[in-house]
Amino acid sequence: MIFKVITSNPGKVREYQEAFASAGLEAEHLRLAYDEVQSSDLEEVVSKGMEEIRRKGVRGFIIDDSGLFVDALNGFPGVWSAYAQKTIGNKGILKLMEGAEDRGAEFRCCIGCDVGGRTIIVTGKCRGAITSEESGSDGFGFDPIFSHDGERSFAEVPLEDKNRVSHRGDAFRLLLAELGKEN
Ligand code: IMP
Repeated sequence: MIFKVITSNPGKVREYQEAFASAGLEAEHLRLAYDEVQSSDLEEVVSKGMEEIRRKGVRGFIIDDSGLFVDALNGFPGVWSAYAQKTIGNKGILKLMEGAEDRGAEFRCCIGCDVGGRTIIVTGKCRGAITSEESGSDGFGFDPIFSHDGERSFAEVPLEDKNRVSHRGDAFRLLLAELGKEN
């Protein structure tokens, strides 16, 4: 089967194309709008999104809801990451972090997969830190201000390498493990 990757984010599309291809699976991008319910829980956003997509008659797909959870900001922007990215942006996050000693942060990615009548929901994580300034031109979103290794931002890491260590790569491997299990 060919998995439909439903997202409006070209950065996610690139990462999933590489991940599916590396796993020897076929995937295609499907642009399909669905409501992202307001919730304090990535899994709930994904679960509700999947219901809506199924109501539209689509099967054999994945969706992804992700966020950046900053320790010193009590988990902000978290589930409000898309809004924070659109409004205050990376510069705004850096501003909020001015003077913060604890720069720890975590990316989380929740994947919902509809396959052969099954629903699989998995969440991957990646620990790292908010950098002191933006750097790098690859990737998307918060990549220029997040470093997983304390040396390079995600926007300075080649896509294949990001997939090896990122929240999305982690979630994708959990998905592959679930796909390998019996119903
Ligand atoms: P959503 O999952 O599309 O709602 O993403 C929430 C916000 O987090 C968006 O602004 C994305 O750009 C950002 N985001 C999600 N995943 C990543 C990532 O892997 N790197 C950087 N930013 C991300």
